[in-house]
Amino acid sequence: MIGQLVRFEREQDVAVVTIENPPVNALSPGVPEGLKAAIEQANADAEVHSIVVIGSGRTFIAGADVNEFGKSTSDRYLASLVAAVNAVEDSAKPVVMAIHGSALGGGLETAMAGHYRVIAPSAQVGQPEVKLGLIPGAGGTQRLPRLAGVAKAVEMCAFGAPVKAQEALDAGIVDRIIEGDLRAGAVAFAREIAGKPGPRTCDLNHKLVNTDPAIFPAAREQTRKKMRGQTAPLAAIDAVEAATKLAFADGLKREAELFGECLRGPQSKALIYAFFAERAVTKIPGISSDTPTYDIRRAAIVGAGTMGGGIAMAFVNAGIPVIVKETSQEALDRGMSQILRNYAGAVKSGRITGQAMEQRLALITPQLTLDGFDQADLIVEAVFENLAVKQQVFREIDTVAKTDCVLATNTSSLDIDRIAAATARPEMVIGLHFFSPANIMRLVEIVRGQSTRPEVIATGAALVKKLGKIGVLAGNCPGFIGNRMINVYGREAQLLVEEGATVEAVNLALLDFGMAMGPLAMFDLVGNDVMRDIAEVSGTKPGARQPLLLAQLCALGRLGQKTGKGWSQYDQDRKASPDPEVADFIEKTARAAGIERRVISNDEIVDRCIFALINEGARILEEGMALRASDIDVIYLTGYGFPAWRGGPMFYADTMGLSKVVARIQEFEKRHGEALWNPALLLRRLAEQNQTFTQAPKN
Ligand code: NAI
Repeated sequence: MIGQLVRFEREQDVAVVTIENPPVNALSPGVPEGLKAAIEQANADAEVHSIVVIGSGRTFIAGADVNEFGKSTSDRYLASLVAAVNAVEDSAKPVVMAIHGSALGGGLETAMAGHYRVIAPSAQVGQPEVKLGLIPGAGGTQRLPRLAGVAKAVEMCAFGAPVKAQEALDAGIVDRIIEGDLRAGAVAFAREIAGKPGPRTCDLNHKLVNTDPAIFPAAREQTRKKMRGQTAPLAAIDAVEAATKLAFADGLKREAELFGECLRGPQSKALIYAFFAERAVTKIPGISSDTPTYDIRRAAIVGAGTMGGGIAMAFVNAGIPVIVKETSQEALDRGMSQILRNYAGAVKSGRITGQAMEQRLALITPQLTLDGFDQADLIVEAVFENLAVKQQVFREIDTVAKTDCVLATNTSSLDIDRIAAATARPEMVIGLHFFSPANIMRLVEIVRGQSTRPEVIATGAALVKKLGKIGVLAGNCPGFIGNRMINVYGREAQLLVEEGATVEAVNLALLDFGMAMGPLAMFDLVGNDVMRDIAEVSGTKPGARQPLLLAQLCALGRLGQKTGKGWSQYDQDRKASPDPEVADFIEKTARAAGIERRVISNDEIVDRCIFALINEGARILEEGMALRASDIDVIYLTGYGFPAWRGGPMFYADTMGLSKVVARIQEFEKRHGEALWNPALLLRRLAEQNQTFTQAPKN
């Protein structure tokens, strides 16, 4: 071994350098140093004619060590990466990089410094740094265009999507695909090329000439659309463009400058925070890897509507067979044909094969009875959002389900304990709040009732992971975490239009802030009736001003996209346009209620909506309904379209400084009254102590 993390071996004339840093061979401190030393040792060994670098376990180097970028020593860390990469490229003996699993970020940068690259057919390579608000910082933006051409490099560095082995070969990123034993194939390849100096990527300039200069503005335009508000993709494009204008060494300097700007900027801090926040959600007090879980091999779903159908797809996509029960043949047929349409769309767009679709459909058993429910390990209820209906369903399934069957409800706001009380086994009942469309959205709120057993929570968490989703634990309060917060956010959006902002101005201000869509556009998408129900369950504080419009729009049949009219009007393709009728209606309603109409700035629109989220988030935290502020952020990033580069509402509040947040909320309190606006106790306390949410002591 060289150090702890790099193994040096010889297969006669070939040195084999193996990175051994499980689980993903990240370039943690010690790996770059070990790699550099191994290359030097191979060069000093007269018997060695060529060198293979390979990863142990399931992957090549999957990337840099993200932990290191958050530290004050990040400059030194980056220097160690660059030194290792340079040592590889400068090696007098040719270096063959043998890639399996993933070579991403620093992993691909290391691979590109080798003189040759061979790859397993199932492997992928990429420069996903933009997803963390960064750009490649160890030469990736300079070497990739030299191997793959400028257009491909721009695409990979700016959008961050990985490419598979065949595409990497076609693009010139790798030299050969090796079927079978990768190490043996790489060693054989190393013997083929031994004795000749290997081509140094930094010297390959032919793909840089005759670059179409239109690539860069076109890519900038595309990132502005696809990655709205993000700075790193633009920096990545600048860095690749520099490769076409500057000598290699100067290009590296430019890359380093741009990397530094990204690293010091707020967006990478937010995105790196979000990366770790997602990983923290699995830490649930009282539940450990030793907590037993129930094995979920067969599931049953009650209700084949929007959610039941999506949940069924999520299960069978993960290989878990499901029974889907409905009350009428008509509803069942409707549900199944929607599932079929969704899969057919996935086949058409090439996301899955026709064969995969058939296999998945074969795992779904549609029926009108409770047959087979006694075999299910998990039953998910996804019927209408009505307590009495849900209690009736739970009473029924309680009579048939086996004793160790987990009973889940997909309610988006009702009291889990009252649902559980309809059974003789409330300890087996849990909320699994999927988001729509459930086959696509990653978020699931795992709701703990007062009696829910730890084993049932652990099972829920394990299941959500198996479905490839992110489960965040929530307490049992009206609307849980996400919808409880969206209720106050939506309330402010409505009050703003009552006070004189247009529907379009409200939507646009929050879109510009970075939200995936404006709040009233979201109402129209989800359905105003659904939003009204959430608001009813969440309730309003006594004495607080009630938004007037939502119920009235519902009464007018303006439910949103599904009826072609809501806050906006929608054409055949569901494209929104302003509706003068609504504007007129809003104005009349507001005047009749004596609401003063005024000009409202975009800043006020954003602050009222976002600070309402933050304040409610603080209350949720203070009540222990969320385990940690970062869990709330994960919910908002994965379920509600909050811009990841702002880290989530709680992190965003931290970046502003909590005393500023309190001061602004107090301004709103003065104008709109204490019942609507009143800084949460926790928020006030943290602000007074000059603390933050995301570093606050965990409860
Ligand atoms: P939906 O109205 O599309 O579907 C409900 C289905 O349940 C209908 O097909 C109905 O025939 C069926 N059903 C009613 N009673 C039944 C019974 N006793 N046995 C079998 N099937 C029965 O409603 P959707 O949107 O799917 O909502 C279902 C649940 O999911 C609700 O609790 C809702 O709050 C929740 N939810 C909805 C979300 C959404 O965006 N639509 C998001 C997250 C949760």
